[in-house]
Order: sequence, then C-alpha cells, then structure tokens
Amino acid sequence: MPRFVFSVSLFLALVTHWGAASAQEPKDRFDQSCARCHKVEVVIAWMKKHPDTAKRKAWLDGKLATHHAPDAKLRADIIAYLEQVYAQAAK
Ligand code: HEC
Repeated sequence: MPRFVFSVSLFLALVTHWGAASAQEPKDRFDQSCARCHKVEVVIAWMKKHPDTAKRKAWLDGKLATHHAPDAKLRADIIAYLEQVYAQAAK
C-alpha cells in the first residue's frame, strides 16, 4: 500500500512537472500573470526609464514578490522574459 501511494504521487509529480515545463513558455507566464492589467509595452516603457539593468532587475524582483508573482521561479521567468523583450526593443 505505501508503495502504491508512492507511485501515484511520483506519477502526479512527473505529470505536473511535465505539464508545467511544456505548456509554459515565458511569454505565457507574463500573459497569465500580468497581461490582464498591463500590456508588455507598458512594462517595457517603465523599463526604458530605468536603464541600469542590475538595479532594474533587483527592483522588479522586490516589486513583483508582492505584485502578482509571489513564486520566485515564476518571478525569475517573467523578469527574464521582460529583459529579453527589452533588449530587442532597445535595438
Ligand atoms: C490586477 C492588476 C495587475 C496585475 C495582474 C499586475 N499589475 Fe502591475 N500594476 C498594477 C497597478 C494598478 C499598478 C500601479 C500601482 C502600483 O505600482 O502598484 C502596477 C504597477 C506595475 C509596475 C510599476 C510601474 C511604475 O511606473 O511604477 C510594474 C513594473 C508592473 N506593475 C509590472 C507587473 C508585472 C510584471 C506583472 C505580472 C507579474 C503585473 N504588473 C501584474 C496592476 C496590475
């Protein structure tokens, strides 16, 4: 019986992990967590006013911890996505 329970939870962990890894592109994370209130352009416009990358990332990390991205991994993914869009927009 314990072995059965272990197998089921392992199976669920794998399925959940696989689902999260395959279906969640960085853009999807932004779209799901942020886009209902901000278009990405709005956040990029804010970023352009804060050109120091290290300070900007640190500020965003602190801000988003209490602003719709409490999970550290989710936050890191969203910030990486924003930095990528920002780098392309700056070209
Ligand atoms: C429920 C609506 C809502 C969601 C969801 C939301 N925001 Fe916001 N956001 C706001 C509002 C309202 C403000 C302005 C007040 C404030 O600073 O909290 C704001 C402010 C900001 C600012 C600061 C802009 C400035 O000029 O100071 C940034 C950056 C930001 N949001 C990014 C994000 C990101 C990234 C996400 C997704 C993780 C997100 N927001 C999700 C409503 C939202």
